[in-house]
Amino acid sequence: MSLIYNIGLLAGIQPEGVLRVEGEAQGRTGLLENAWLRYEDDRIVDFGPMSSVILSGSEEALDAEGGMVMPGFCDSHTHVVYAGSRDGEFLDKINGLSYEEIAARGGGILNSADLLHRTSEEELYSQSLPRVQEMMEKGTVALEIKSGYGLNPADEIKMLRVIRHIGETVPATVKSTFLGAHAVGRGYTHEEYVQAVIDMIPQAAEYADFVDVFCDEGFFTVEDTDRILTAAEHLLTPKIHANELAVSGGVQVGVKHKALSVDHLERTTEAEISALKDTRTMPTMLPGSSFFLGLPYGRAREFLKAGLGVALASDYNPGSSPSGDMRFVMAQGCIKMRLTPVEAFNAVTLNSAYAMGVSTEYGSITRGKKAALILTRPGWDLTKIAYQYQTPFIRKVIL
Ligand code: NIG
Ligand code: FE
Repeated sequence: MSLIYNIGLLAGIQPEGVLRVEGEAQGRTGLLENAWLRYEDDRIVDFGPMSSVILSGSEEALDAEGGMVMPGFCDSHTHVVYAGSRDGEFLDKINGLSYEEIAARGGGILNSADLLHRTSEEELYSQSLPRVQEMMEKGTVALEIKSGYGLNPADEIKMLRVIRHIGETVPATVKSTFLGAHAVGRGYTHEEYVQAVIDMIPQAAEYADFVDVFCDEGFFTVEDTDRILTAAEHLLTPKIHANELAVSGGVQVGVKHKALSVDHLERTTEAEISALKDTRTMPTMLPGSSFFLGLPYGRAREFLKAGLGVALASDYNPGSSPSGDMRFVMAQGCIKMRLTPVEAFNAVTLNSAYAMGVSTEYGSITRGKKAALILTRPGWDLTKIAYQYQTPFIRKVIL
């Protein structure tokens, strides 16, 4: 057993069985001042107020010195396995080219696919692992990673193998998503490639938990998405890229296929909000790509007002969000999307855990869940980590 005592604030307490929070409930979380928490192996056993602490000489005990303990961040949408960098496109972007224009010139996703093709599996692993390690240092304890820079059978499987290898290496939990339909691979027509993705599904399902399609203007249509998700039924649960570049219909086709999440949502109307009501699908917004690409921020407030929950994730990738800093994501949730600190906190913990199917294990302080925790320096609380968003606050990540 291990004990953490003198916790200034234990934040993110939820009763057992709460797997996501929606609407007004997203604005609430359990808080306990002056607390202790006990864990055994990797599970939270119990917690309570310091007035009730029982110290036993035989266990490891950590003095929190008044720091906050909170669940670690859960990042339900990343593309951290990629080769090289796209800093060459950074100047194009600064000079005013849009994401679509950079892609149309052979930059963008295809540029990453060319780089990945020339990179060995071992090299891809050693380039990607430090990104995940940096994310863990910044407090991420569970993350999803997508394929989608392979764009042919051999390279997609290479990516999925690297994702699996990373999951076997790090203490964080890694979920894997087959995003063959990220862009049309070189040498294929659009039609040929959609069929190739469908043909890759059985093999991809040996590695991946989820299937994703970039359902957006200039990439894959609602019809393509419908075909791919139909082929993946019973094999892979959908998580969809939708409504980033246009009101694409991606939300609706995702909901139709019982997607666990629909992600991006920079451009939505009331129709998307209605389509999501009373479904299992978690709307997931990625403020890092709004920031980096200068896109509108998702309308998280309206979603909450309609009674929906919202998750936030980093989208860490070389083209639209070269950062996996979930504390910055949380801060943007507050500053740019007008979420309260507690709403944003729930969005980067419990709801983002739900959006990758791990909220039975992660995302809150709950007896029986993983002791995957952030211990802060003294004096921090949920408001301050978003408000004073660049001052280092982590003392230790317990994982
Ligand atoms: O989520 N939108 C599609 N895919 C990624 C970007 C991938 C890239 O540009 O490399 C995203 O933003
Ligand atoms: Fe993405």
